[in-house]
Amino acid sequence: MTHRIAVIAGDGAGPEVIAEARKAVDALGLDLEWNELPWGTEHFHAHGTMMPADALDTARAHDAILLGAVGHPSVPDHITLWGLLLRLRQGLDLYANLRPARLLDGVPSLLSGRPRVDMLFVRENTEGEYSGVGGRAHEGLELEVGIETSVFTRAGVRRVVERAFELAEQRRGVLTSATKSNASRYGYVLWDEVVEEVHASHPDVTVERVLVDALAARMVSNPASLDVVVASNLFGDILTDVAAVLQGGMGMAASASVGAGPIAMFEPVHGSAPDIAGQGIANPLGAIWSAALMLQHLGEDDAHQRLMRAIEAVCRDRVLTRDLGGRATTREVGDAVVARL
Ligand code: NAD
Ligand code: IPM
Ligand code: MN
Repeated sequence: MTHRIAVIAGDGAGPEVIAEARKAVDALGLDLEWNELPWGTEHFHAHGTMMPADALDTARAHDAILLGAVGHPSVPDHITLWGLLLRLRQGLDLYANLRPARLLDGVPSLLSGRPRVDMLFVRENTEGEYSGVGGRAHEGLELEVGIETSVFTRAGVRRVVERAFELAEQRRGVLTSATKSNASRYGYVLWDEVVEEVHASHPDVTVERVLVDALAARMVSNPASLDVVVASNLFGDILTDVAAVLQGGMGMAASASVGAGPIAMFEPVHGSAPDIAGQGIANPLGAIWSAALMLQHLGEDDAHQRLMRAIEAVCRDRVLTRDLGGRATTREVGDAVVARL
């Protein structure tokens, strides 16, 4: 059966890294069809919206979405992201954002002693601090107020926590839950209670609850002590940028947004990188790794393995972009991956 893939290359460095991810997937010779969706900031300037009104239906007609990044200095970020990325995650109910962080051989470590880094973040992806609930009153006046409300639902927390337990069972049987239930006494306390409840049906998994500030410190002081980490939307966002640096840099990190249904979205963790966009120097490995996660999701296990082995070989051979201390261009890294396939 042909896999139908929607491609949203997006803005800035997005199209540059997605071109390499597509090239790598094409080299695997699968029965796969790309459908380029020209959504993003250019669409906004032409039509006043980041994507068409029927975008969610269009997306659902595919097996997966491969996304580069969106965000451009010409449009306020909250318009851009709520008009596309967050709308897709919420509208398609992709409630878990899986973000592996593994330091590959050949990639320089920023920590002395090169400690082992092999974590999997399971980030809540549709509610919490990013629920989009809030508003502003007294606009423009001295007494103006901005309110941003975090929404934690029992069902919403449970489904992502269950996913994290299942993944912990497939790995080392250790789950760390990021929380802040000392200062925030409602949402994160509910979160902690749900973790305890779900733990009861996964007694083989060792769970630890770590306050997010201490967890951030531990990620850099003792990364080898962490395996699967489950976190709220905002905490997961922040911690996974730290994790990206632990695996070499922003350009290395991959992610999968998954839900209960078949459709899922795959994207590097980084943004549109306006500071380096258009120069052909963005690291494409996070995007290529995301494409590898996509192949796994599509049931193409052999292709997934082959692509991961090629990424590892390219790193071992140190064909790296300058963010990792190398001299290769975006395209040269993509070509090197293809050569090793
Ligand atoms: P960013 O991830 O784009 O950039 C942060 C730093 O990492 C920059 O120095 C950049 O050069 C570097 N970097 C990022 N990707 C890289 C790559 N592939 N190779 C080498 N270096 C890389 O984050 P930002 O600067 O905070 O955001 C820029 C824009 O992207 C904003 O509009 C933001 O809202 C948007 N954004 C979008 C997504 C997304 O679409 N998934 C994610 C994050 C940020
Ligand atoms: C990410 C990004 C997004 C997020 C932004 C662009 C809304 O930073 O995917 O990590 O915070 O989810
Ligand atoms: Mn982020």
